[in-house]
Amino acid sequence: MPAQPLPGLPEEGTSVLAIGLMSGTSQDGVDVALIDTDGETIAQFGPTAYRPYGKAERALLRDAIAAAANITDRTARPGALGEAAALVDTAHAEAVETFLTANGIRAADVAVIGFHGQTVLHRPERRLTVQIGDGRALAARLCIPVVYDFRAADVAAGGQGAPLAPLFHRALVSRLDREPPVAVLNVGGVANVTYIDGENVIACDTGPGNALIDDFLRQRTGQPLDTDGRMAAAGVVDEAAIRQWLEHPFFALRPPKSLDRDDFRTFVGHTLDAASVVDGAATLTALTAASIERIVAQLPRAPQSWIVSGGGARNPTLMRMLAERLRPAQVESATDAGWSVDALEAQAFAYLAVRSLRGRPLSLPTTTGVPRPLTGGVLAKPQTC
Ligand SMILES: Nc1ncnc2c1ncn2[C@@H]1O[C@H](COP(=O)(O)OP(=O)(O)O)[C@@H](O)[C@H]1O
Ligand SMILES: [Mg+2]
Repeated sequence: MPAQPLPGLPEEGTSVLAIGLMSGTSQDGVDVALIDTDGETIAQFGPTAYRPYGKAERALLRDAIAAAANITDRTARPGALGEAAALVDTAHAEAVETFLTANGIRAADVAVIGFHGQTVLHRPERRLTVQIGDGRALAARLCIPVVYDFRAADVAAGGQGAPLAPLFHRALVSRLDREPPVAVLNVGGVANVTYIDGENVIACDTGPGNALIDDFLRQRTGQPLDTDGRMAAAGVVDEAAIRQWLEHPFFALRPPKSLDRDDFRTFVGHTLDAASVVDGAATLTALTAASIERIVAQLPRAPQSWIVSGGGARNPTLMRMLAERLRPAQVESATDAGWSVDALEAQAFAYLAVRSLRGRPLSLPTTTGVPRPLTGGVLAKPQTC
């Protein structure tokens, strides 16, 4: 059931402190961010933190995704899924406790936590999206109200359930001096874009982000990522492979559209088996850039400015490829815009938690394809504190 406005929440227009927690499809760790917001404008950014998953924890999360592949009941937790759910709960609780202590913030001063959880299955066409993470347990442990399960209401109503950061992006862009239209591009495991031209907001997943690069590097070298895009920078892009991959029907779909992390794994298949590590990394990095370039034709106008967040913004090879493919538009990292590269999604879920408490929409027909602007999230109130 969607959250009801929280009794006791300060009146409309009053800013509150909210913490957002994001564990994205890269499965690299938990981002934590505090913001001060009324659910419309952002009064202030607070501190941020990161709690990485260790190697064994990442392996467990991968097993959980495999275990979730065929579930039809979103509450089912077969095999590794149950163990991974416990890990997600503990990692998030510890991340918040450490964050509060490190920054001298009292739990009582935090109005709400937006807890995204870890996506293990995203099949909006089957009206199914599953994020593990128990908001009730988190609220009870931390003595702070928690809004969780953000995507379910949108998917149940026929939306894609993703991306959900666009309304936060719009609030950020409204304070920014950039030539419109502006595109906010988040390159996580999957990449997603928000197109903003005044009040017009259009959003969708564009294709793979870092996940294919990470998986390829792990399989070939045992490393979890292509640090600073060094491998990709040394390789040669297989342009024929890119052209072939871009024929995948996903790229021809108009927004809104979204992806499961592993949608492209089988599709890339064995194409790179004979490629060297550097050429494979270069080609997968170029696929991410090319699929982002591909979205431009499906937007009302070509964005003049691209602001890039997520781990992909830390990859200079990807940033160079994006600048080349999106020319003459300006491509900059979120840091250059005065935002956070790493914590932007976590901040978005803090913002969405406050919107959820106030019954405001989290998604629009143009961001997720939901039939009407829709609120979402489930509220867990701590019982005894
Ligand atoms: N210095 C870097 N060089 C290259 N890639 C990086 C770097 N830092 C982060 N990344 C990439 O970003 C990913 C994490 O991005 P993130 O925005 O947290 O994604 P998600 O939201 O899916 O968790 C890593 O798995 C890695 O692929
Ligand atoms: Mg991450």
